[in-house]
Amino acid sequence: MSDNLPDEDRHVPPGVSRRGFLASTAAGGVVAGVLPPALIADQAMASDGPSSALSVTVNGRRHQVTIDNRTSLLDLLRERLALPGTKKGCDQGACGACTVLVDGRRVNACLTLAVRCQGAEVTTIEGLAAGEELHPLQQAFIEQDAFQCGYCTPGQIMSGVACIREGHTGSREEIREWMSGNLCRCGCYVKIVKAVQQAARKAGS
Ligand code: FES
Ligand code: FES
Repeated sequence: MSDNLPDEDRHVPPGVSRRGFLASTAAGGVVAGVLPPALIADQAMASDGPSSALSVTVNGRRHQVTIDNRTSLLDLLRERLALPGTKKGCDQGACGACTVLVDGRRVNACLTLAVRCQGAEVTTIEGLAAGEELHPLQQAFIEQDAFQCGYCTPGQIMSGVACIREGHTGSREEIREWMSGNLCRCGCYVKIVKAVQQAARKAGS
């Protein structure tokens, strides 16, 4: 991608500001907020396998759904709860694009069975911002220009939030080590580490 492009034109779709792009990772949350309850309530998918009733809180909102026992947390979020901010990359636990927080701990949603989240509190990228105010790490990603295509970004940010809370931000090397499960095909690692450092400083860690 050409470096001659103006900053606003790099890495983001035409007509979309960088702040808007980062905020759009929360679009699923907005959509979920305006969808009729019938569309986000229990829509049991056709299944020929055993199913379970699941009660889970996602971004502060409680959901009760009946799911096939084989459903991953990632598919539950994206396909049942209309929260597409969490990305499906490898679907095999190798890329970190699907990182979310379950009871405050980061997990790969593609490797987590949704039924294991009974009664849990799940936080996705859509639940990070406080209204119009981005989470400090979302803001840091913008200020550090820490994404290009943006596909890995929700997972990077969720992992970074946990990395900061865990106190693994003592050095660039430590951040790299504790963020090593999150791959970026665009190679934004240097700026991602800078963004995590910036947010960690703001958090006082
Ligand atoms: Fe889950 Fe790649 S999609 S680790
Ligand atoms: Fe493109 Fe990370 S910004 S994969």
